[in-house]
Amino acid sequence: MLPRWVRSLLRIPLVGKIAGANALIVLAAMAVAFARGDGSPAETRYLVLLATALGVSLVVNVVLVLVALNPLTDLEATAHRIWGGDLQARVPPSVVADPDLQRVGSALNVLLDGLTAERARLRTLASEVIRAGDRERASIARELHDSTAQTLAALLLELSVIAGEVRDEKAVARVERVRRIASDVLDEVKLLAHTVHPRVLDDLGLGPALQLLARETEERSQARVAVEADAALDTIAPSRQSVLYRVAQEALNNALRHGKPKLITLRLGVSGGLARLEVEDDGAGFDPAEAERRRPGMGLFTMRERASLVSGTAEITSAKGQGTRVVVTVPTDSVPPTGET
Ligand SMILES: Nc1ncnc2c1ncn2[C@@H]1O[C@H](COP(=O)(O)OP(=O)(O)OP(=O)(O)O)[C@@H](O)[C@H]1O
Ligand SMILES: [Mg+2]
Repeated sequence: MLPRWVRSLLRIPLVGKIAGANALIVLAAMAVAFARGDGSPAETRYLVLLATALGVSLVVNVVLVLVALNPLTDLEATAHRIWGGDLQARVPPSVVADPDLQRVGSALNVLLDGLTAERARLRTLASEVIRAGDRERASIARELHDSTAQTLAALLLELSVIAGEVRDEKAVARVERVRRIASDVLDEVKLLAHTVHPRVLDDLGLGPALQLLARETEERSQARVAVEADAALDTIAPSRQSVLYRVAQEALNNALRHGKPKLITLRLGVSGGLARLEVEDDGAGFDPAEAERRRPGMGLFTMRERASLVSGTAEITSAKGQGTRVVVTVPTDSVPPTGET
């Protein structure tokens, strides 16, 4: 263990250390020269010259060190910008930087280029997963609705005919029971198809789809769900309506599952080429930064990814005991056809 005074000395910044060491050398040289000298004018001139040379050397040393260390400020500033979310930040080239420090900057830039490329790859992958999921859900819903539900409807019709033809009372009751079971299965299949991919969104648009979602949410919870929707929703491109609907669905699910709110409000408005959806609940609230680190699920991540897929943004504001607000903003115009459902 080093003595305390040595540790204090080592903590002094490099420039201070160099300036201090130089000053000590100057003082020691002057002291020795004075002690040995005879005080003649020639010697005084010599001492003044020596003091000036040492002083200039001190200043030059300090300036050189300051110049050599200057690129460290750039490194620090770049690290701060990256930490703040600006992933395009890079260490700028410097003409005064020491070659070693220059190399550290270049190495950091290479690392950042690699990370940015990897991040872009992961985002492409995430968007592909989301799109594939949506496509798959739409196809399952179509299959359930157009095939399974139609077959069940035909079965029900057939059973009704049989019930009309059968004379035996017991048999009539039995056919009626079977008909009721088939009817319940048909209702469940339709509900499943609707949950997997709501056709009301395709058929009637975002406003009615959100109204229906709100009513369904109220039915399966204690919460009241209010919808405040703008009239100009038709101007939102279908692909973006679908994003807004999915985000609303996830935000409502989260509110019910995690927040236990009394009131959830869905607000949807269009203005200046932007559609804005807000889902606010008065439930338990949470710490978004902590949830982001812990990543207990995929909901919040998927909300953001869905929004960014159509050049939009999703913002989640919450605090423990203060409810939660999810705001998604997307441009209203159509997106280039990149294979969305
Ligand atoms: N409205 C909300 N009220 C309270 N807590 C919330 C709310 N929304 C999210 N959270 C918290 O944030 C966490 C992350 O939410 P996220 O939707 O990403 O995952 P999840 O709902 O747990 O799982 P998944 O959505 O994948 O089924 C939740 O586990 C919950 O603790
Ligand atoms: Mg969730």
